[in-house]
Amino acid sequence: LKPRAARPRAARRAVVVAQAGGGGGGYKVAILGAAGGVGQTLSLLAKMSPLVSALSLYDISSVDGVAADLSDCNTLAQVAGFTGKDELAGSLAGADVVVIPAGVPRKPGMTRDDLFSVNAGIVKELAEAVADHAPGALVHVITNPVNSTVPIAAEVLKRKGAYDPRKLFGVTTLDVVRANTFVAARKGLPLADVDVPVVGGHAADTILPLLSKARPKAAFTDEEVEELTARIQNAGTKVVEAKAGAGSATLSMAYAAARFLEASLRGLDGDEAVYECAYVQSQLVPELPFFASRVKLGRDGVEEEVGSELRGLSGYEARALEALKPKLKASIDKGVAYVQQQQ
Ligand code: NAI
Repeated sequence: LKPRAARPRAARRAVVVAQAGGGGGGYKVAILGAAGGVGQTLSLLAKMSPLVSALSLYDISSVDGVAADLSDCNTLAQVAGFTGKDELAGSLAGADVVVIPAGVPRKPGMTRDDLFSVNAGIVKELAEAVADHAPGALVHVITNPVNSTVPIAAEVLKRKGAYDPRKLFGVTTLDVVRANTFVAARKGLPLADVDVPVVGGHAADTILPLLSKARPKAAFTDEEVEELTARIQNAGTKVVEAKAGAGSATLSMAYAAARFLEASLRGLDGDEAVYECAYVQSQLVPELPFFASRVKLGRDGVEEEVGSELRGLSGYEARALEALKPKLKASIDKGVAYVQQQQ
């Protein structure tokens, strides 16, 4: 996880409580789809967070074993398992953050959009439950296709009168994690220092790494820009192919989701200067009601979209941004239409 900046007193207290093994402090996190490949590893990483005091694990498959297993770790969070739809409400009660990795992953040859027919319904059902039982929580949607599942969750929450655009996120952190890894390796930079903003969406060439805005500043040839951009966009597909039918990225995804969870909790906790890229309701690109870019996280979720990184793009990035707009817009419209067609 990211090295942590200086923490305010309340957060430091939570850490002290966690280290002492005492109760109190911290936040309640619910993970929906916790028995899956992403869900199990993410549950372990969340159990390690000093900011998490309660961890609800929900799945339609049994999570009893995962909950029992994790409960033995001597870290602060109290773990409870909830299996089956009758227990969904109970898993959400009092949650500060709800993370959704429920749904089917890709197999070789599939695009993320191929998952729509199954995963749209799963996200709709879970978002309805969030509206009913955890209406004030931050919601992190991992389930693909993120470009459409986030608009689906937004429409569901709107229908239920529980939509706060500051609190709904598509998790695109894995794109940033990959970009940082690949750029550090290519340019021989210290890994911990590299920070590449990734904007747009989370599928194929809607994923747009802004190499011209990478820190530390590095010079890239045109060939390097093309090669790195393609590598970042296709990294997920490479993992799907390497797993040869056994699923998609789970370990790196869980790592990325844990980083985003920790950032959100630090924001809730009042830490200053918490920034991450995420796919949120956006005003940066007029045609695109949802867009991934760097946002500032605070006590109520998104405090502001930074936006400045979209100014002064390279020619390559400006063209790529234009090219992704109709694709991302179509995915957003597809998600919105899906909910509007349902009674
Ligand atoms: P998995 O198949 O290992 O686990 C999915 C879990 O969801 C299973 O335990 C299943 O029982 C559960 N589930 C299915 N329907 C459910 C429902 N209605 N309520 C609660 N739980 C339900 O899949 P994996 O590998 O964990 O992937 C999960 C999702 O994460 C996929 O949609 C995948 O595409 C997505 N993903 C997203 C990434 C991103 O960067 N945003 C990266 C990697 C994966």
